[in-house]
This record gives sequence, structure tokens and C-alpha cells, in this order.
Amino acid sequence: MIVTPAVREYLDATRSPADPLLAEMQAHGARERIPILDAQSGALLHVLARAIGARRVVEVGTAIGVSTLHLARALPPDGELVSFEIDPARRDAAQRYLERDGLEAARIDLRLQDARAGLAELAGPFDLAFLDGVKAEYENYLRLVVPLLRPGGLVAVDNVLMSGTVAENRSDGHWSDEQIATARAFNERLLAHPELVATITPVGDGIALAAKR
Ligand SMILES: C[S@@+](CC[C@H](N)C(=O)[O-])C[C@H]1O[C@@H](n2cnc3c(N)ncnc32)[C@H](O)[C@@H]1O
Repeated sequence: MIVTPAVREYLDATRSPADPLLAEMQAHGARERIPILDAQSGALLHVLARAIGARRVVEVGTAIGVSTLHLARALPPDGELVSFEIDPARRDAAQRYLERDGLEAARIDLRLQDARAGLAELAGPFDLAFLDGVKAEYENYLRLVVPLLRPGGLVAVDNVLMSGTVAENRSDGHWSDEQIATARAFNERLLAHPELVATITPVGDGIALAAKR
């Protein structure tokens, strides 16, 4: 937990009304130990997508579609989202959940493909990119995503604080020393990236936000 228990309880208590579909997805994630976005992080992505008037969104790491749903719900009727996932069962589950929310497959393109290959095939511009695949691959995803963003477009990156271990610079048994070192190096490069203006927020597990210059 990055914020204090009191802050967490307050944020949970003041959250928007119950969302049965998201609650079912959260239960699915917990049951199968699938790491998915928490409600605060999802709300942040949703608000940001709306704030920048995002029409085209790309995501790395669909899992069962929690972050995809938060982002897709922020899009206008002619908006589109491309999301990459390498696990077929997760991708299929995401497809079913999104269909139940009325999101058409024609607009929400869930690709069963390694993002490193998939991103290289995409044509920009995109308004927003969300990176949430393998943490050790963040550098590669970022390298492929930055050229796809429009000026003023946003890239959001999840788990950049790894339960706070990235700040403490020591393993908690879940995040390894190697993962923490990789995350610290990634954060440094993101914050100094010449094409981006970036900041790190302590929302969820740490979300980095960077706007393309
Ligand atoms: C943390 S989960 C994504 C959670 C999801 N974004 C959410 O918040 O609901 C990371 C996912 O990325 C997928 N993944 C890992 N490497 C990938 C790659 N190279 N391309 C696409 N997906 C990948 C994993 O199978 C896993 O389901």
C-alpha cells in the first residue's frame, strides 16, 4: 500500500456508485490471481481519457479487460481502442465482459498478439497509450509507443512504484530487487525523456503520466 490506510479507506468510501460488471471482473481477477487495475487507477485513466478528448487509445496488457473497460467507456461513439494480450483465455474473458457492457468488437479491438510486434504494425496518431504488460519490457513498449502518439498525447504506465518498494529500493518478497532496479531505471529515463513531459503519481501501484511535447 502506497498511501496511508486512512487515505485508502477514504478513497474507497468516496468512490462512485457500485458497478456490478466491474465488481464481477475484480472478483474474477482476485479468484484467479490476475493482476488488474484497482478502482482509483481505473477512474484516473477514465478521467484523463475524457479530459484530453481521447478518440484513439492503445493498451499493452488487456488481461480480463478491467483497464480496457475504464478506457473504452471514456471514448466517444466513433472512438477506437486497440489492446494487446498474449494469454488467449484472458483475452476471451475480456471480450465477453466488454460485450456485456455494450462495447462493440468493431471499435474495441482486442488483439491476441505480443505487443512488441503489434505496436510496430500500428499506424498513429493515438491520443492515449496505457502500458501494463511485463514490467521488464516497459522500455521497449515506450520506444514503440512514443512515435504513435500525437503531440499532447498521453502515455500512462502502471506499477511504477511497485507497492512502494521502488521508493524504498528494497524487495518486499513480491517485487524482486531486479524488478525494482529496472523500474527505477525506467522511471529515471521516462522523467528525462526528451520527447515527453512526465510525472509519477502515487495512485494505485504508482502510475506514471507523460505527455508528448
Ligand atoms: C498486469 S496485467 C494487465 C492488467 C490490465 N491492464 C488491467 O489493469 O486490467 C498484464 C498482462 O499483460 C500480458 N502481457 C505480458 N506480456 C505481453 C506482451 N508482450 N504483449 C501483450 N500482452 C502481454 C499478460 O499476459 C497479462 O495478462
